[in-house]
Amino acid sequence: MDITVAKTAGFCFGVARAVEMVEKCCKDTQNKYYTLGPIIHNKHVVEGFARKGIAPIENIDRLKEGEKLIIRTHGVGREIYDKLKEKNVEIIDVTCPFVKKIHNIVERHHKEGYKIVIIGDKNHPEVQGINGWCSDAAEIFATPEEAENANPHYNKVCVVAQTTFVQEVFKKIVTFLKKTCQDIVIFDTICNATEERQSEAYELSSVSDVMIVLGGVNSSNTQKLYSICKSVCPTAYCLERIDDLPQGCDFGSKRVGITAGASTPAVIIKEAIGKMENFESFEALMEESLKTLNTGDIVKGTVIEVRPNEVIVDLGAKQDGFIPAGEISDDPNATTDSICKVGDEIEVFVVRVNDADGNIMLSKRKLDTVKTWENVKKAQEEGEVLEGKVTEVVNKGMIVNYKGYKVFVPASQAAEKRDADLSEFVGKVVAFKIIDINDRRKRLVGSVRVILDAQKKELQEKFWADAAVGKVYTGVVKSITNFGAFVDIGGVDGLVHISELSWKHIKHPSEVVSVGDSIEVYIKDIKEDTKKISLGFKKAEDNPWEVVKTKITLGEPAQVKIVRIMPYGAFAEIIPGVDGLIHISQIANRRIDNPAAELKIGETVEAKVTEIDWENKKIALSIRALLPAPEVAEEAPAAEEVAEVEAPAEEATEE
Ligand code: F3S
Repeated sequence: MDITVAKTAGFCFGVARAVEMVEKCCKDTQNKYYTLGPIIHNKHVVEGFARKGIAPIENIDRLKEGEKLIIRTHGVGREIYDKLKEKNVEIIDVTCPFVKKIHNIVERHHKEGYKIVIIGDKNHPEVQGINGWCSDAAEIFATPEEAENANPHYNKVCVVAQTTFVQEVFKKIVTFLKKTCQDIVIFDTICNATEERQSEAYELSSVSDVMIVLGGVNSSNTQKLYSICKSVCPTAYCLERIDDLPQGCDFGSKRVGITAGASTPAVIIKEAIGKMENFESFEALMEESLKTLNTGDIVKGTVIEVRPNEVIVDLGAKQDGFIPAGEISDDPNATTDSICKVGDEIEVFVVRVNDADGNIMLSKRKLDTVKTWENVKKAQEEGEVLEGKVTEVVNKGMIVNYKGYKVFVPASQAAEKRDADLSEFVGKVVAFKIIDINDRRKRLVGSVRVILDAQKKELQEKFWADAAVGKVYTGVVKSITNFGAFVDIGGVDGLVHISELSWKHIKHPSEVVSVGDSIEVYIKDIKEDTKKISLGFKKAEDNPWEVVKTKITLGEPAQVKIVRIMPYGAFAEIIPGVDGLIHISQIANRRIDNPAAELKIGETVEAKVTEIDWENKKIALSIRALLPAPEVAEEAPAAEEVAEVEAPAEEATEE
């Protein structure tokens, strides 16, 4: 079944205003209020108010001084106001401002000697009220035929319309009147809300197989909507509630249009949608509503007592309502006093009335559930970011709890990386967006990744806007490879090459950094076209060839550590990162053939710094220079000869 609900269905401005004003009266339990006739043409609303002590009366004669009378949206004639004033009865006037405007037009023109013509139904209370502003002297026509039969010939005519009248019929009657009357002033007082409702009903009917019009049987605008729908869509029903649908109706896969009169409350429309769609949760609420007449109302009240097992609510009616602890919130751990306190205004769903103790059972949880669903739909439409706690990992994703609703987040949408370990998120609050809704099954699909992607994009744009060679960042090591480490420097990854990680020779980047380390780096190079960034890590002041300058002096001894032994000599570490060569001829004060026989790796020896070549990073050391000369001269090479001896470049140069 394909269901379309008219956008204009439900309370119009005038009715919403009236209902709100009467709700306020309900809260005043010190005074008795009456309405002259039903407040609006909807049994459901009128009965709801009656239960709260607002009683409809048909005659004002029974009213006594000091009592209060609510004048309904349809309005009344001047005479009623005068009588009420005489009786000293307080008036709460909820006449729709659009109707009031007609009263003013009619009263003014009547005084100026115009004949008043009302185009509308003479039995409708609104029309009778309007007539009461010209001493009941108006001509009233409901059809062009009525006007033609009357064949009026007036010299000064003021024409107004019932607010809920059908525009086309109004125009036909006016056309006729223009032919027969002189000096005619026409006020098209058909309410916009009515026009919009009627034209939308017409359009919806023309694309629907079935039309359902919800509203009171005595509601003029509902009946007009019904006749419009029926004229276009033969399978049309006019119902007070969806349960009035004849038994056995099966709409299969038909296109069903739903509209409603201006005095039909939203709860009746929602009930209809819920039942038509087999809307499980709402149907459950409505299931309960069948038990009593006023079950299903959504009302506001004031918290007057908070007990551990229930909350007592003053509904402005004769009885107080109670919310059992389990109906206060979706959170099973929530306590009553954590949700509300005495004096709070609270909106609740009426679950049941007249229980064993004569109380009204209420639920905040059920109302919250319906509201939350509406909010979730709005959040999807508006791309709003929601927050919820991850409750479990399931096959192919994880579940996030959003105000009692389970949101499935597929693994591909749960994190930046598709293969992320989702169990890490359990118990954590995550931000997400709704990416899919199944209204009928009440299923939600969310994405955390869309938010992460958007954040990343924003960071990247910010980064590229002010990235420059030399700029320093504190980044996080994201991954390590044989040739270097990738570091996140704010939504963008750069590479620190292995040679940039340390002044010393290292075999693998992991000798210096680990994944997750926070390190300070600077941009060495940016390739704008490929968006590749090379990062530097080691600092100039840590360059051991700079440091060693403060540690040794040419011609002075130094403590060095033997680190490698070669056939032509031994390398000794002066400081980490800087080695010097002790040539074989400089190891002892006698001729030796094998350096390994004289020195051991790891051994610390004292050697004289005999030569420094800063440019080529070469330092020559001599143990022999610190030893006493041998007693018997040997065939040692001359000093100049030693200086000439050099190790192969790759061995002598250490960075
Ligand atoms: Fe007023 Fe128009 Fe509604 S006249 S009561 S707003 S239909």
